Amino acid sequence: MRVQSHGSGIRRRIAAGCQSARALAAVLVAVLALPFLCLGLATEARAHATLVSAEPADNEVLQTAPTRLTLRFSEPVKLMSLSLAAPTGETVALKGAEVDGTDVSVAVPANMAEGTHAIRYRIVSADSHPVGGSVLFSVGAPSGTPGRGDAPDWPVAALVFSSKLLLYLGLFVGIGGLAYGAAIQPFESAARRVVRVFLVLGLVAVPVALAAQGLDALGASIGAFFQPDSWAAGAETSFGRTLGIAAVSFLLGLAAAFLPGGRIGTVLAGLSFLGAGLSLAASGHASAAPPQWATRPAVFLHTLAIAFWVGSLLPLALAIQGGREEGRAALKRFSAAIPFVLLALVASGVLLGVVQVREPDALFDTAYGWVLVAKLGLVSLLLLLAAANRWSLTPAVAGGADRTVRERMVGLIGMELALVLLVLAVVAFWRFTPPPRALQEAARQPAVAYLVTGRLAAEVTLRPGRAGPVEASAALSTIDYVPIDPKGVTFVFTDPAGRVPPVRQAGVRSGNGLWQANAALPVPGRWQVWLEVGDNRVELEKVEGTIDVRP
Ligand code: HEM
Repeated sequence: MRVQSHGSGIRRRIAAGCQSARALAAVLVAVLALPFLCLGLATEARAHATLVSAEPADNEVLQTAPTRLTLRFSEPVKLMSLSLAAPTGETVALKGAEVDGTDVSVAVPANMAEGTHAIRYRIVSADSHPVGGSVLFSVGAPSGTPGRGDAPDWPVAALVFSSKLLLYLGLFVGIGGLAYGAAIQPFESAARRVVRVFLVLGLVAVPVALAAQGLDALGASIGAFFQPDSWAAGAETSFGRTLGIAAVSFLLGLAAAFLPGGRIGTVLAGLSFLGAGLSLAASGHASAAPPQWATRPAVFLHTLAIAFWVGSLLPLALAIQGGREEGRAALKRFSAAIPFVLLALVASGVLLGVVQVREPDALFDTAYGWVLVAKLGLVSLLLLLAAANRWSLTPAVAGGADRTVRERMVGLIGMELALVLLVLAVVAFWRFTPPPRALQEAARQPAVAYLVTGRLAAEVTLRPGRAGPVEASAALSTIDYVPIDPKGVTFVFTDPAGRVPPVRQAGVRSGNGLWQANAALPVPGRWQVWLEVGDNRVELEKVEGTIDVRP
C-alpha cells in the first residue's frame, strides 16, 4: 500500500507544481497584457455630462418665438433624442439637430403657440450613462403646462438594474469559477454544472442589458424592448462595447466549461477571464475618469480580483464538503493565492474611490457617496467572514478536520456568497448616480447669459456657475456686435424670490476688455442681472436679463 502511495504522492506534487506554474503564467500574462489592452480602450477622459446652459435659458420668457434652440453640456455628448412639447402637451420629435462637441443646436418649428414649451433631451456621456433633462421656456406669457416630463421610467430602470446584476453574476460566478478551475483545482462535476449555469445566465443578460441600455438612452418605455432602434441605440454607447466583449468572454468560457480540462481548456478559460476584466474596463464612469492610464487598468484589476475571489467560493465549498484530499489541496492553494488577490482588489478599489469621490464630504452629500459607504460596510463584513474562515477554520479543514468543522466552513462560505450578492446589488446602483467628481466638475462649469436691452448687448459669465462666491465678467457691445468702451460698469444681481438682498458690485475693466467683479450669490436659481453702463446718472444705460445659478 505505502509504495503505491509514495509514487502517487510524487505525481500529485508534480501536478500541483505544474498547476501553480500555470496559474502564475496566467497572472503574468494578465499583468503584462494589462497596459496594452487598456490603452486600446482609452478615450478622452470624461465625466457624466450635465447641461451647462441653454438658449433660450431655462424658464426664460420670450417676447417672440425662437428660431433655434441650443443646449450646451459640460462635455461632448452623443444625442439620443430631442423633442419639443407645446403648451397643449402635444410633443414633436426634433430632427436634424447639429451636435458640435458640447453643443446641440436645432431649428424649431415655425408658428409656435403662446405659452410654455418644454425641450426634452436624452444624451449619452462618454461613460455610456444616459442623461435626460428638459428646458422650459415661454413665448409671451408662461402657461404652466407642459411639465418637464423627466420623471424616471421605473420599469426601464429596473430592467437596467437587474440585467447589470445578472451580467455581474455571469462575469464573477461564471467566468470567475473558470479561473478557479484553471488555477486552483480542476472542477468537480457539481461545480462545473454551476459554472456553466452562470455562464449561460451571463450570456442571456447581454442582449437584455443591451436593449435596456437602448431604452434608457432613448428615453423609450419598456414597450419598445423589441424595437431594433432600442438595440441599435444601446450598441452605439460604450456600454455596447462592454457587452460585446462580455459576450465573447462568455462564449469562450462556455467552450472551456464544456471541454474536459487540458491545455486548450485552460487557454480558453484564461482568455475568458481576461475578457471579463476588459469588458468592465471598456465603459462606466470609473473607466472614463481621468487619468485613464490608471483608472482603466484599476477597473480591469478590480474586476479580475473580484472574479477570482467570488468565482472560487462555490467550487471551493463543494470541494471542501467532500472531505477528500483534493478539497484540502484546493483550500491550501486558494489560501496561498487569496492574500495577493485581496491586495489587488483593495488597492484598485481605493484608487478608484479617491479618483471618483475627491472630497470626503462627497461621501455623505452625494448619492454616489452613499452607495460607496453602503458597499464598504458590506465589504468589511465580507472581509471579516473571510478572515474568520481563514484563521479559525482553514488550518483545521486543511489538516483533515471532521464533517462538522467542514460544514461550518461551508456555511460561512455560503454567508460570504450572500454578502457578495448584496455588494453586487449595491454596486449596480452606481449606474444611476453621477460620481462626485463629475458633479464637482459640472458645478465648476461657468454659467453664461446673453443680455440684450435697447442698443446694448452683453455676455455675462459667472465662474463657477453655482451658488456661493463667484467671479462675474461681462463682454459689452452694441446689438450689432460693435464693442463699446464705457467709463464704468456696475453689476446688479437680484434674487426674484427675495430670499437675499440685491447684490451690487462696481466692475473693474480687465486687460482683455472684459468688466469683472467678485460677488456672492448665496442661493441657486434664476437671478435677475443688469449692468449699469456709464459713469454718471445722465448717460447711464442699462442692459438686463436673467442668469441661472446652479446649486
Ligand atoms: C475595499 C474594497 C473595495 C473598494 C474601496 C471598492 C471601490 C470601488 C470603486 C470606487 C469602484 C468604481 C465605481 C464607479 O465609479 O463606477 C468599484 C467598482 C466596482 N466594485 Fe469595488 N471596491 C471594493 C471591493 C469590492 C468587492 C469586494 C466587490 C465585490 C464583491 C466589488 C465590486 C465592484 C464592482 C462590481 C464594481 C463595478 C465595476 C463596473 O461596473 O464598472 N468591489 N469599486
